[in-house]
Amino acid sequence: MSLAQRTLLGPSPSLRGTIRVPSDKSIAHRALICAALATGESHVILREPGEDVRSTLGALRSLGVEASATESADGLEVTIGGLGDGNSIGRVGAGTADCGNSGTSMRLLAGVLASGAGVATLVGDESLGRRPMARVADPLRAMGAQIELSNGHAPMVVRGRRLRAVEHDLTIASAQVLGAISLAALAAPGRTIVRVPGLVRDHTERMLAALGARITRTMDGTTTVTTIDGPSTLEPLTLSVQGDFSSAAAWLVAAAIHPDAEIRIDGVGLNPSRTALVDVLTAMGARITVEGADDVVGEPIGAISVRGGATLRPISLGRDDVAPVIDELPLIAVAMAAADGTSEVRGAQELRVKESDRISAMTAALTNAGAHVEELPDGWRISRGRPAFANVRTHADHRVAMAMAIAAWTGVASAADLDDPQCVAISYPSFWDHARQIGALE
Ligand code: S3P
Repeated sequence: MSLAQRTLLGPSPSLRGTIRVPSDKSIAHRALICAALATGESHVILREPGEDVRSTLGALRSLGVEASATESADGLEVTIGGLGDGNSIGRVGAGTADCGNSGTSMRLLAGVLASGAGVATLVGDESLGRRPMARVADPLRAMGAQIELSNGHAPMVVRGRRLRAVEHDLTIASAQVLGAISLAALAAPGRTIVRVPGLVRDHTERMLAALGARITRTMDGTTTVTTIDGPSTLEPLTLSVQGDFSSAAAWLVAAAIHPDAEIRIDGVGLNPSRTALVDVLTAMGARITVEGADDVVGEPIGAISVRGGATLRPISLGRDDVAPVIDELPLIAVAMAAADGTSEVRGAQELRVKESDRISAMTAALTNAGAHVEELPDGWRISRGRPAFANVRTHADHRVAMAMAIAAWTGVASAADLDDPQCVAISYPSFWDHARQIGALE
């Protein structure tokens, strides 16, 4: 099922059930890219991949990577012939690759193409064309990459060059930029060192380590330090990509707010650089249980359950808290609008350069829904108001759409009408089906 047109969403009497969310988008991008660079054939199973993950697959094909994909009961089964040989990672090369709406595709691929086999042009949709790309081009240029941007934005033209290992001190806590440098460093002889302020998701580095790269990660105070010794080869991988914590987050927040809810998410990634939402909701008073199970290709996986009915307390999140919940902040804003008091988010200016300006989009949507929201340059101050009918401009942003659907089902809004319900397919094509499964939709 999908919500083909604008549909009115309203409070649901209860939310109950067990859900398996789509494969983790961040890990899926990296699995496909690492497979392309590896020294043999890889097999990657993607459960209900969204448009962003399909963008990476399409982009790799446009750049000469051989990939076959068949739909099966388990998901999209992708076989990729790695371009690497016994001495070096594969040199992905020339062509024009469309990254669609996906910043992760464009930034990670820039890292790979920096040492690629020819001239590649990375393009994307209108939203991606507005997002900053100098943050990835500059450190890659410091390694010898030749990259042209148009006023700091896509299209990005990358000419494959011989790279050198250098030290980077990043000022932005970005996993995409760190990941791009880590991938580029595989082709650079010597030790690349990357310092990142704070904790960012480390999927690239975990996967590279699991596939045989020489890579270390340590914390120096609040700085994450990564070293990569190149050149390196990568072994092929076989992976059925686990559930996406950021997709699960919608249901965790829904159950935490709702007075009558019990939701379990199975087979979801529990990488600590992604699960800080659990700590945030727990600190607000939500009842959450996490069960760890396996480790697969360097990543922990397990189950999470949430029981509703708790009165949520307000919370304040600052600069050091936001990177590990960066994609969950629209949902956290909804939880704040359900809490008993005034909450605050600061240090989250990165939200202004996501698929939309999420600070202003969520301010408008929650204010419409009756909540009291003060927009700050780098976040919000939020408290509960009288639930009202919200006419939601999603700005075609999947996370805004899902957050405001949760606001409607949990009664934070008295009802909501989303202008573009289909945009959830960027990360979570089965979102509306799963809503029906837990009783949020008729
Ligand atoms: C991602 C990193 C984050 C996140 C994005 C996915 C990744 O972006 O917001 O959805 O897969 O590396 P930044 O690197 O810009 O923080």
